[in-house]
Amino acid sequence: MCGIVAYLGKKNALEFLIEGLKILEYRGYDSAGIAVLNENSSNYNLEKSAGKLVNLINLVENKDIKGHLGIGHTRWATHGVANNANAHPHISNDNKIILVHNGIINNYLELKRKLKEEHNINFYSDTDSEVIANLISVYFKECASIKTAVIRAKEEIKGSYALCVISPEDPDKIILTSKEAPLIIGLGEDDELYCASDSSALLKYCKQMIRLKDYEVAELKKGGKFEILDANNNLVKQPNIQILDHDPLHLDKQGYKHYLLKEIYEQAAILRKLFETHFNKDLNITFPNLNTKIFEGINKILIIACGSAYYAGLAGKTFIESLANIQVDIEFASEFITKKNLLVDDKTLLIAVSQSGETADTLSAIKLALKKNVRLIAINNRPESTLASLSKDSCIFTQAGVEVSVAATKSFLAQMFCFFCLALYLAEIKSPEKKEALKKIKLQLHLQPQIIEQILARAEVYKQKILPFAEKKAFIFLGRGINYITALEGALKLKEITYIQATAYPAGEMKHGPIATLDHDVPVISILTNGDVYDKTVHNVMEAKTRGAPNIAILNDGNDELDKEIDVILRVPVNYEEESEFYDLLSPFVGVVPFQLIAYYLAEYMGKDIDQPRNLAKSVTVE
Ligand code: F6R
Repeated sequence: MCGIVAYLGKKNALEFLIEGLKILEYRGYDSAGIAVLNENSSNYNLEKSAGKLVNLINLVENKDIKGHLGIGHTRWATHGVANNANAHPHISNDNKIILVHNGIINNYLELKRKLKEEHNINFYSDTDSEVIANLISVYFKECASIKTAVIRAKEEIKGSYALCVISPEDPDKIILTSKEAPLIIGLGEDDELYCASDSSALLKYCKQMIRLKDYEVAELKKGGKFEILDANNNLVKQPNIQILDHDPLHLDKQGYKHYLLKEIYEQAAILRKLFETHFNKDLNITFPNLNTKIFEGINKILIIACGSAYYAGLAGKTFIESLANIQVDIEFASEFITKKNLLVDDKTLLIAVSQSGETADTLSAIKLALKKNVRLIAINNRPESTLASLSKDSCIFTQAGVEVSVAATKSFLAQMFCFFCLALYLAEIKSPEKKEALKKIKLQLHLQPQIIEQILARAEVYKQKILPFAEKKAFIFLGRGINYITALEGALKLKEITYIQATAYPAGEMKHGPIATLDHDVPVISILTNGDVYDKTVHNVMEAKTRGAPNIAILNDGNDELDKEIDVILRVPVNYEEESEFYDLLSPFVGVVPFQLIAYYLAEYMGKDIDQPRNLAKSVTVE
């Protein structure tokens, strides 16, 4: 979604603005722009362009843009189509206020009407952001201070915003404010100040950062000076300075053709790291950032999340219910917030799952639930995110590093892994007598990274087997029990990066309707790994086969009984050493990986924009 960058220092601002916007490209966007104030004059350059960032780069390349202060933006269209006029930065009618904005202003039509009627202001875009630029300029006229003008404007605007405001009239300052949209000040070397809506843009430039809290206003000044005012406009004496410690290698493709492929290949190492974090040498489970008192006296567990994180939550529900024998509810965050009656209270454990920690639906759902005094745990990938600050001493970090490709891969596996640890922990608290039996499952969990590496070594085989299906218009994914979750995630990956219609069904449900859609042009992909649900799923796959659907299946090594029945077999190693009641709970850890790979190879063959699929954004910061 939209991205903001800003710079105030001794270097030419344009350099960081373009580099920062390049880093934010991964978030998904459809236009881009910059504004740079020229030194010692009230001149400025404002350039914007619809489409990819390269269009903006071509535009600025041959222009002499010089100045030590500037702002930049990548826009993901909400109000108004993706064209030059709607791209940011926006400028007020009197050319005195220039701003970039992330978020949505709910009362922008009312403000627009007022500005038109009372101040004769014209509008040249369809955006809510241009309205804010003009609102600030009206106050700027009255008070001659951008900071005061922004403070007055923020009292009037309703909705969510991260705003970065500059004025050619006062070319030494950048004013920032935010509400329910992330905005970070980066403290660079040599008195440089940076700003970004996503800390990844700052990694190369800063070691320290300050996250603006809701309704705060910051004034960045020359010489590395800055001042932050709290929601009541009082000076914040000791801003909370955090360390920026992501590994910049995450922002490098390291020889892979796409970030997505690189991130798929990182999965085994991430699970190893998570195992080391959560298990000591006696295989006792620890959670370094979680006060486990939170579990005392709970009578309900509710998981909320969106997209792939929701599917990881579904896996979490299955793990906790199966291992710990505790019932778990799960809701899409966007649905939870529509409920008339939130059936949660101070004995409810709310587990919020989010890679970015910035998903608007998830954050809104959490805020609503917190009003009912729920206890919150976050399974989160970004320690500097809003979600992390909402769940201070109750975070389970997925430690997957920055996930650049828009489609979730490594974060999904890491989220499932964290849920598995949580399920084992809850099972041990509830039934200490099961500790020895659970130890066997822990040992099998420990095996998963090496099995994933064996699967990745087969990538080329999967590629050759799947490419003949590249022309198909639709796919159906089938799985039962825990494998239905693998099917859901597999279908989502295929949809996101190839744009092929793909639907997942619990295998037993197919005969209740979806079977009508089957023919020779709709391949059915099923998960037939060993386990309790294997036999019944085979029956469903045969029902599809007799309707003429080509069939593709994931089967374990050593199972050759279906060699004549299945058209294309994608084999995975057996991922447990010892059979137990629960061994098939681990199957998504290996089942999902071939699905990630086949989606990738189909998309690559079809020439799709794999890391930035159309219409998608990495962190969805609007509801
Ligand atoms: C799927 C995908 C999305 C996200 C969803 C939640 O590949 O990337 O479905 O999983 O938007 O995002 P986070 O986890 O950042 O809250």
